[in-house]
Amino acid sequence: MQDQLDKIKEKCLKCEKCQLCNSRTNIVFSDGIPNKKLMLIGEAPGFYEDQQGKPFVGKAGQLLDKIFASVGLNRKEHVYICNTIKCRPPENRNPLPEEKEACWEYLKAQIDIIKPKIILLCGNVAVQSILPNIGGITKIRGKWFQGNDTVHGAKLMPIFHPSYLLRNDSREKGSPKWLMWQDIQEIKREYDLI
Ligand code: URA
Repeated sequence: MQDQLDKIKEKCLKCEKCQLCNSRTNIVFSDGIPNKKLMLIGEAPGFYEDQQGKPFVGKAGQLLDKIFASVGLNRKEHVYICNTIKCRPPENRNPLPEEKEACWEYLKAQIDIIKPKIILLCGNVAVQSILPNIGGITKIRGKWFQGNDTVHGAKLMPIFHPSYLLRNDSREKGSPKWLMWQDIQEIKREYDLI
């Protein structure tokens, strides 16, 4: 599996299919372990990710690691992390449709090679890529969706993006952080079952 992923990464490293190749410092392909059980798809690399060539290494990534750690999960052993697009959009704007389209072949290849049983869709951009027209994240987070053939029938769960949690400090019942805590426990329950 690693060989196949390395081949796709090599292709991606040379990619010039969209304008983001002109402004990137590094391609951000993935981090974590190619794990048959669990994959997380985020939005797009930010400043630190672009600098280091690794997804989720800035503040949002540190919070994501804490969220996983709260249920005993980590990148080294349990989860494969990637993004909808592999190059940083200028000023961290949302990816454009043509950028997502150009980059889809790499994400699809990652899914096809790993065939994870659970895919977490982290934030609206990731949700739109895999479950278009399903509705906003606040309504659908924490729910399981049955994936189609594109994702090899994986169970899909939309979750809040950690940068949204960073903007919402409250931990009170019903707050985004509290909801994320419910969601990660549900994810861990499912992870242990499969
Ligand atoms: N936000 C994302 O969605 N992905 C990253 O890799 C970093 C921040």
